[in-house]
Amino acid sequence: MHAAITARLRHQTVMKDATFDQVFPPSQRLRSCIHWTPVDVAVRAAVLLAPLPGRKVLDVGAGVGKLCLVGAATTSSTWFGIERDAEMVRSASAAASAMHVEQRTRFFLGDVTSVDWSAFDAFYLFNPFSEMRFEGLLSATPEEAQARRVRHTATVEFVQQQLLSAAAGTRVVTYHGFGGEMPAGFDLAHREPARGDELCLWIRRRSRRQPAGHAVR
Ligand SMILES: C[S@@+](CC[C@H](N)C(=O)[O-])C[C@H]1O[C@@H](n2cnc3c(N)ncnc32)[C@H](O)[C@@H]1O
Repeated sequence: MHAAITARLRHQTVMKDATFDQVFPPSQRLRSCIHWTPVDVAVRAAVLLAPLPGRKVLDVGAGVGKLCLVGAATTSSTWFGIERDAEMVRSASAAASAMHVEQRTRFFLGDVTSVDWSAFDAFYLFNPFSEMRFEGLLSATPEEAQARRVRHTATVEFVQQQLLSAAAGTRVVTYHGFGGEMPAGFDLAHREPARGDELCLWIRRRSRRQPAGHAVR
């Protein structure tokens, strides 16, 4: 049944999220409408991230792998996800097998800071760190809240540093931003409406001489 979802995606058939989300366990489906990229947005993001075959794309904070699964089904590139939640990584890997796209996508358990970013041609950032900053904040002590702020800032700065040293031509797609500004040296090459927000495509230009960063939506 899940292979049929792959076939429908390959034929560009429009699909409801509730249909796609059957590849995930019920407990994960509940989070879909807020936490996972909608199918139509993922299809567009995949085109922007991998316009040519053979790209290696990293979803930074991959959740249950929706972007990677859609990318693997609709492109000839390879899709990698790094995710800190073990259950989500298991769900993503199981979905890849069920959809018969495991040759084109792999999921790793770990923090985004544990990955060698130089191994990838493109990155997807769907607001990955907001939970780190805000989840359970109301019940946190002032010290805990401060520790979260510090960790959030450090992680956003890590992402900016990785992008700053990325090769020319590196692509980044943001959806609801990533909590910081896109570093200097990236051009906003394309933007399009996506479910009340925007998909923004940033491309690393050749010259590294560029003083200012850009605000990211
Ligand atoms: C908004 S969800 C996006 C999921 C997925 N990219 C998608 O588009 O469907 C953000 C995910 O990032 C993960 N995350 C947050 N901070 C992380 C970190 N430091 N390292 C790895 N994953 C992280 C969260 O657990 C969550 O699953």
